[in-house]
Amino acid sequence: MSEIRITPSILNADLGNLDSEIAKIAPVSDLLHLDIMDNKFVPNQTFSFDRAKEIIANSVMPIDAHLMISDPDLMAPKYAAAGAASVTVHIEAVNNLSKTINEIRINGAKVGVALKPKTQLADVLPYLPDLDLLLIMTVEPGFGGQKFMMDQVSKISQAKREIDQLNLKVLLQVDGGVSKETIQIARNAGANCFVAGNAVFKSENPNQMLQELRKLAIN
Ligand code: DX5
Ligand code: ZN
Repeated sequence: MSEIRITPSILNADLGNLDSEIAKIAPVSDLLHLDIMDNKFVPNQTFSFDRAKEIIANSVMPIDAHLMISDPDLMAPKYAAAGAASVTVHIEAVNNLSKTINEIRINGAKVGVALKPKTQLADVLPYLPDLDLLLIMTVEPGFGGQKFMMDQVSKISQAKREIDQLNLKVLLQVDGGVSKETIQIARNAGANCFVAGNAVFKSENPNQMLQELRKLAIN
């Protein structure tokens, strides 16, 4: 069994006290998932690039930036240059994926590509060998607190098969509705990297919830 990663999403954390929210979960998290939304690609807006740069600079944890924006070709390399550990772009939004993958990498970050629920896995397969992370969305991107979409489980299994067949080390990330109830479903399908927002930050003890999620993902 490959190593697993738990990446809490701060989308629904207390954004007024972000530093203390991050400090709370840092000891039990591998990466911090930063959701960037522009109110164009998705009907919601989160952090500006300047605010994101501050978060990246101040975080004690490496940042996993998930760009839900309409101009990722332009912005993704900037997030990499700002110090994000990984930068994930949506295949539906990108204009020149090969070029953007390259530019993220030469600016020093790992490269991720995300698929919305209605997007076919086949669309990303030509690029799979060039990726560090493949993100299968298990909700429609835009908001935290939605229900895990069971109909995405077969896409996760299919992605796992493709990654194994090519003997790649691509992380298989799931994002949306991951909780104590759903994490093992995603893990059993082959996911090894789990974003969790509401399950963590709406729980009484985020730190303990993260440890429980990790235990469930390993066992
Ligand atoms: C949704 C975001 C997610 C979100 C996950 O578009 O990409 O990262 O924060 O939140 P939960 O875990 O509450 O579904
Ligand atoms: Zn996300």
